[in-house]
Amino acid sequence: MEERARPTEMSAARNIVLGVTGSIAAYKAADLASLLTKQGCSVHTVLTADAKRFITALPFKTVTRHPVVTDLYDEEEGWQPTHIRLADEADLLLIAPATANVLAKLAHGLADDALSCIALALNPKARVLVAPAMNGKMWLHAATQANVATLKQRGVEFIGPEAGMLACGYEGIGRLWPVTEIARRAAELVA
Ligand SMILES: Cc1cc2nc3c(=O)[nH]c(=O)nc-3n(C[C@H](O)[C@H](O)[C@H](O)COP(=O)(O)O)c2cc1C
Repeated sequence: MEERARPTEMSAARNIVLGVTGSIAAYKAADLASLLTKQGCSVHTVLTADAKRFITALPFKTVTRHPVVTDLYDEEEGWQPTHIRLADEADLLLIAPATANVLAKLAHGLADDALSCIALALNPKARVLVAPAMNGKMWLHAATQANVATLKQRGVEFIGPEAGMLACGYEGIGRLWPVTEIARRAAELVA
């Protein structure tokens, strides 16, 4: 009989929680989810409320063959809250694209949605890889740079952003790092 993906369980190894936040680059995260899945990772996507303004859950659900978390209160079958199970079983929390807002939330320990709760509840063995994408002034702002420094001190790894033409019309630093390279680094971290 054909082996079917079991949507509510994480596999034993290489579990990636992919957090997608409200950036214009959110559409690129679907490619990233696909690349990671093809690399053999079990990808569990979490969309913030603002990410849903840019992309729907459907492409992620389809390419990863796992349900997508879009609401802290959307609980699946079973007793354990989904965000705690994902945090317990993750090998890597990858946030791509990461907004200035989510960096601030992570740096300050806010927990007002599924993604920020997962980040706080993350098991200590899991690595955290963050790929920021934002307007250059937002990235270079002292507040954002202080949040980045705080997160780096806690062991969070950053990939990008890169310089180039930004969706907001400016040229400069703030573009999401190429998804092929984010996928390659994520695979290295869970190898
Ligand atoms: C068209 C548009 C594009 C945006 N792009 C970005 C972006 O690339 N990076 C960013 O930090 N914020 C961006 N924002 C602002 C975020 O969506 C906003 O800060 C939001 O609160 C982020 O929520 P989240 O971090 O929970 O996803 C954008 C907003 C709009 C309307």
